[in-house]
This record gives sequence, structure tokens and C-alpha cells, in this order.
Amino acid sequence: MKKNKELFNPIRVMSIFGTRPEAIKMAPVVKELEKTEGIESIVCVTAQHREMLDQVLDLFHIKPQYDLDIMRAGQTLNEITCRVLTGLKEVIQEAKPHMILVHGDTTTTFVGALAAFYGQIKVGHVEAGLRSGNMYSPYPEEMNRSLTGRLAHLHFAPTKGNEGNLLKEGISKESIIVTGNTVIDALLQVVKPDYKFELDLLNKIDYKNKKVILLTSHRRENLGEPMKNIFSAIKEVVMINEDVEIIFPIHLNPKVREIAFEILGDVPRVHIIEPLDYEPFANLINRCNIILTDSGGIQEEAPSLGKPVLVLRAETERPEAAWAGTVKIAGIERENIFKLTHELINNEEEYNKMANAVNPYGDGKASHRIVKAIEEYFRIDKYE
Ligand code: UD1
Ligand code: UDP
Repeated sequence: MKKNKELFNPIRVMSIFGTRPEAIKMAPVVKELEKTEGIESIVCVTAQHREMLDQVLDLFHIKPQYDLDIMRAGQTLNEITCRVLTGLKEVIQEAKPHMILVHGDTTTTFVGALAAFYGQIKVGHVEAGLRSGNMYSPYPEEMNRSLTGRLAHLHFAPTKGNEGNLLKEGISKESIIVTGNTVIDALLQVVKPDYKFELDLLNKIDYKNKKVILLTSHRRENLGEPMKNIFSAIKEVVMINEDVEIIFPIHLNPKVREIAFEILGDVPRVHIIEPLDYEPFANLINRCNIILTDSGGIQEEAPSLGKPVLVLRAETERPEAAWAGTVKIAGIERENIFKLTHELINNEEEYNKMANAVNPYGDGKASHRIVKAIEEYFRIDKYE
């Protein structure tokens, strides 16, 4: 059935996000929505993260119309869920969006989609279709993403493989748009070859003659033993390799901090620093030699900058860069993490094999494709 375009003029699109990675990856979409005639862009942040979210909003000059401000220290999944769901009810009633956009796999994502469903609002899922196949890894993200897929009307899949995952679950092909990942749109805006860091330590490091490793770790399923294994392996690597420097911008989660400072706090050449704003962080990826991470987003950014990544997880929902050879799954056991890192530091041939710039995740135009698809959806509501 054709719908009259005037009914949706303007199309009110509300983007809901709450954590650092969602903000980074939604910022280019919000900017694209803002400049598109016929669309009214509304932003609601849950503030599941606070400081780590605010720095991204500042960088991209995004001023949310709604801010639920729900973050509490050491928050549980149940608490986040309840606070977001309650807060969104009134926001949705007041803003009356035609479509709600959520991103990825956080608790904000799933609850945002659920609140949209309860308000009978259409849902667009950005970064749809990634699957590890294990509901507990990443936890709770694998399930958050799958459930959001059940609630979505439009699925913006970064890769053909992600589209394939959705098709296997019975999602109709015409509701899936393969767009690339918006993280590449964001990355291309901030990486500069002559970037100067505000934190002088980062300017002083000898990136040419030292083996500089960028480390991040924050996953819920790694808290406890796996994280202890990861940091112990890194300690061993540093003790054995005198030319290694580790830069570790540490997540604000107090549970991560406790383990990290206990194991790595006094280790020479391990620089534990506060989380970096996105611009310096992306430029740091570009400067260092190797990345060790359990992050999702960094697995997508580093390959496009030609940096080898060892993934500190048992499995990944982002296999494309591993297929391309730039990423290896190092797992969460101390010995294997040590072995692979030590090899990458000391075996030039192995390093060069992995240090290839590959870009399976996008060409920097994902946001444009997403907004075009939304316009198309409301012009002819062909998916009902
Ligand atoms: C969340 C997401 C995870 C995502 C990660 C990105 C869920 C369940 N988890 O995990 O998918 O990969 O964000 O970083 O949605 N904190 C601060 N200030 C901040 C941010 C966090 O102090 O700006 C501290 C708080 O004590 C907070 C804790 O970190 O309670 C954990 O935050 P939370 O959002 O619950 O979990 P993350 O591990 O950050
Ligand atoms: N990032 C950042 N500062 C940091 C660490 C990471 O800006 O100190 C960026 C990184 O470039 C990526 C995103 O944050 O775009 C990833 O966030 P995180 O690792 O917290 O979450 P995940 O991607 O695992 O969900």
C-alpha cells in the first residue's frame, strides 16, 4: 500500500543511545539526519555511560533533546533495564517519533527497541545481524542484538555476512540494507597523520623504535579470572621484552580498575591512563604497532588502519577481519595470549602478514545509506 509522503513531513526520527561506542557509531548518522530536509532528528541519550558518553557528544557537537541520566556506579543489568524502560515511556509519548533508531548490542539498545515496540513505534536497527552464535559471549550483547533484531522493522547490516545471519533467522530480505559500519564514517573524520596529543606522554613515546601495544579490556564476561589471565599474560610479555611499551586507556568500570591495578599497576613500561577521548584514541590506534583488545569497535577500526589485532575473547561476532588475516582470536587463556603476543613482537614476517590495511567493515558512507533507506521506507511503506 502506498502512503502519502505528506503524512510524514517531517519524518520524526529519534536516535536512542547510551554508551561510548553507540555514541561514536551513531554520531555520523545523527549528523546525516540533521542535514536531511524532510527529517526531524531527535536525540535521546539514556546516559548508561556518563563521562565516556559526554566526551563523544562534545566532539561531534550533538545536543540531545532528552537525557535520562541513568548511570550509577557498578550498575547491574537489571537496574539499567528498569531505569531505561521507565525513562523512555514518557520521552516517547512526548516526542511521538515515527521511527526509533537504536545501535548495536547494549542494554540501552535492546530496551530502546522494546520501549519502541510498547509504544508501537517503528524500529531501525543500526549494526544489525552480527552473531557469535553463543548467547553468553559476548554477554549480554549477543542476546541484546538478537532480541533487537526481532523487534526491528529495518535492519542496517554492516556486511553481507551480517545480512546472511539475519536471513537465516527468517528476517525478510527487503527489510535488510547492507550499509557498511558507521564506525568507519566516524574514524575517517578524526584520524590525521600529524595529530598531536594533549597528553604529552603519548607524544613522547618512541613509536618507531619501540614495540608499542595498545591495550583495552572491559567485557563483562571477562571480569574475574579471564581478565586476570589477560593482564598476567601482558605482564609476562613486558618483563621478557624490554623494547615493549603498553598503553592502556582504562575503562571507568571500577571492577576492571581493581583487577588492572592489582596486576599491572607497578609494572614498568605499562602506562595505565584514563579513557581517551575518541579523537586521540583513534589517532593512537594509528600510531601504535599492535592492538590487544576485547572491544568490539576497535576490532573494526584497527584493520582499516593496518594494525594487527589480537582479540582477547573466546570468540567474535566480527569474523571478517580474521578472515582477512589482520585479526587473530587470542582467547582468554594466559599461555595463548602470551604466545601470540610474543610472536607478533618478535617475528617480523608474522607481523607483516597481519599488518595489512583491510576494510571489510565499510567505506565511510554507511550513514548516508541508512538515512536514504529511512526516507525510502516512509515514502513507500513497502515493508508493512
Ligand atoms: C557497556 C555495554 C557494553 C559495551 C560497553 C562499552 C551493556 C550491558 N554493556 O558495558 O556492551 O561494550 O558499555 O564501553 O550494555 N562508568 C563510569 N562512567 C562512564 C561509563 C562507565 O563511571 O562514563 C562505570 C560505572 O561505574 C558503571 C560501570 O562503569 O556502572 C559499568 O558501565 P556499564 O554500562 O554497566 O557496563 P560497561 O562494561 O561499560
Ligand atoms: N575508545 C575511545 N577511548 C578509549 C577507548 C576506546 O574513544 O579510551 C573508542 C574506540 O575507538 C571505539 C569505541 O570506543 O570506537 C569502543 O568502545 P568500547 O571498547 O568501550 O566498546 P565496544 O566496542 O566493545 O562495545
